[in-house]
Amino acid sequence: MYLVTRTTLKALFAAVMLCALPAFAQNGYTNKGITLEGIGKAYMGRDIAAVMGIAGAEWLERGERAKEEGTDKLLPLLGLQPNTVVADVGAGTGYFSFRISPLVPQGRVYAEDIQQEMLDLITARKTKGAGKNIVTVLGGVADPLLPANGVDLILLVDVYHEFSYPREMGQAMVRALKPGGRIALVEYRGEDASVPVKELHKMTEAQAKKEMAALGLQWVSTDSTTLPWQHVMIFAKAK
Ligand SMILES: C[S@@+](CC[C@H](N)C(=O)[O-])C[C@H]1O[C@@H](n2cnc3c(N)ncnc32)[C@H](O)[C@@H]1O
Repeated sequence: MYLVTRTTLKALFAAVMLCALPAFAQNGYTNKGITLEGIGKAYMGRDIAAVMGIAGAEWLERGERAKEEGTDKLLPLLGLQPNTVVADVGAGTGYFSFRISPLVPQGRVYAEDIQQEMLDLITARKTKGAGKNIVTVLGGVADPLLPANGVDLILLVDVYHEFSYPREMGQAMVRALKPGGRIALVEYRGEDASVPVKELHKMTEAQAKKEMAALGLQWVSTDSTTLPWQHVMIFAKAK
């Protein structure tokens, strides 16, 4: 009985994987099967990492983060104006949303995430008076649900490699950008073995350029030296 059940389960699993294969093989997606750290799926040859859960909130807000990642050095690279409308996509605890908020007093910060628990942390901090121009948005895994042509800058810090549908997320983000709007893609440097982060949570500049080009975005600049561990890559939507 045990053997029959195991065999049946194996056959069922194989059938499911076979059904899933054609879907994953389309549009740049490939099925990687079960992996230890990723989601078993690759996009344009890059293994996709699993989403950081709410348990990671403390790590995002750790005291050493500013020193380790040079987070204060990132903001001047973003070209923010007082009226810039920013979307912090995959905002997590709002680490960057709350730092950007006072720099865009006539603008707005959409703090978007797929985890309501993360947004609840942002809302709780807002009720203490900070971040009056922050608007939380609960997005979907394939669409951040931002207003069309409504955003000047989309900030993606340590999140893009977690998107389970990077192609669809990318297309939706392009729709949300105003003409000439920019995406700031901040990712741990995949070319640098000394960056103390797991491979799946890193990206190379070449890979990022390939994936952004597939969305029709134009590469503007790459800064790989200001931050200790991350690339800051800027891409723009056509005007
Ligand atoms: C490693 S955290 C980074 C948080 C924040 N950007 C920071 O640097 O402090 C990644 C966040 O991305 C979110 N995320 C993952 N996939 C997402 C998606 N498809 N759309 C929006 N957020 C997503 C996760 O829920 C998580 O809060």
